[in-house]
Amino acid sequence: MRKNFAVIGDPIEHSMSPIMHNDLFQFYGLDAEMKKIHIKKDFLQSGLSELRDMNMAGFNVTVPHKQAIIPFLDELDPLSKAIGAVNTVVCENGRWIGYNTDGEGYLKGLLKQLPDIKQRRTFIIGSGGAARGIYFTLAHYGVEQVDICNRTISKAKALKEACPYPVKTNIMEIALAEKTLGEYGLIIQTTSIGMSPKIDASPIQMSNVMEGAFVSDIIYNPLETKILKDAKAKGAITQNGIDMFVYQGALAFEKWQGVFPDTTRMRQNVLTQLGGLTC
Ligand code: ATR
Repeated sequence: MRKNFAVIGDPIEHSMSPIMHNDLFQFYGLDAEMKKIHIKKDFLQSGLSELRDMNMAGFNVTVPHKQAIIPFLDELDPLSKAIGAVNTVVCENGRWIGYNTDGEGYLKGLLKQLPDIKQRRTFIIGSGGAARGIYFTLAHYGVEQVDICNRTISKAKALKEACPYPVKTNIMEIALAEKTLGEYGLIIQTTSIGMSPKIDASPIQMSNVMEGAFVSDIIYNPLETKILKDAKAKGAITQNGIDMFVYQGALAFEKWQGVFPDTTRMRQNVLTQLGGLTC
């Protein structure tokens, strides 16, 4: 029997998850299909009850429903509970179980390029939902020091206080962060600043970044944000958000199908969709 999957969000038209997963279903010979389902921000409850009737095997959850969906789930895994957000739901015998593969997907993509992160002094720019998943996952993994800067300091402080895993964290304003950036071996940009179409924007000046530092941006459109360009010009090694997107999808696929899929294939597929050549 065909297994039905979906990605829900508002807006949803831009989502590349169906292209990525449908290609994998075909590649692995699975009778399954993923569709985009538009559930408007204020209609989550009624949208989910329609989804219950559609006999789903699983679905991805994207903005703005990642936190709001939690009360409608039957079970939450511990990391998604700590993060307070869900991007993947597994439907098993009518029970909906929520997971968060964003933070872990980010970590997997990072470790592929940079295996020695535990002792690397790490810096996160931003304190929104994406920062939360990444910060908690890094702390859970055992990264010793993760400092944070954010436009709104109170949000960065709240993030630090909410983290249930042990990690050393200093909170600072953007102006101070710009001066001390040279002390960090790993810098992670988690805000939406620099995303297409405002590609000349940057949340922070990169002039003091250390040569050889690893600078990672979760944005993948454009493939090279201003922050990455500036960091590269200073001799940093850079990574865009494609790996995070691919690995969060790969981990969701594994939860649904029991197989960890071919991430090289997924990456190539996403790059083709984005019209990129290499990255
Ligand atoms: P997401 O859930 O996708 O992470 P979010 O919760 O809206 O999105 O968080 C966006 C992040 O981008 C926050 O860190 C936000 O800073 P504030 O906490 O001060 O709002 C940051 N951000 C958004 N617009 C910004 C801007 N113009 N300048 C600096 N930071 C900005």
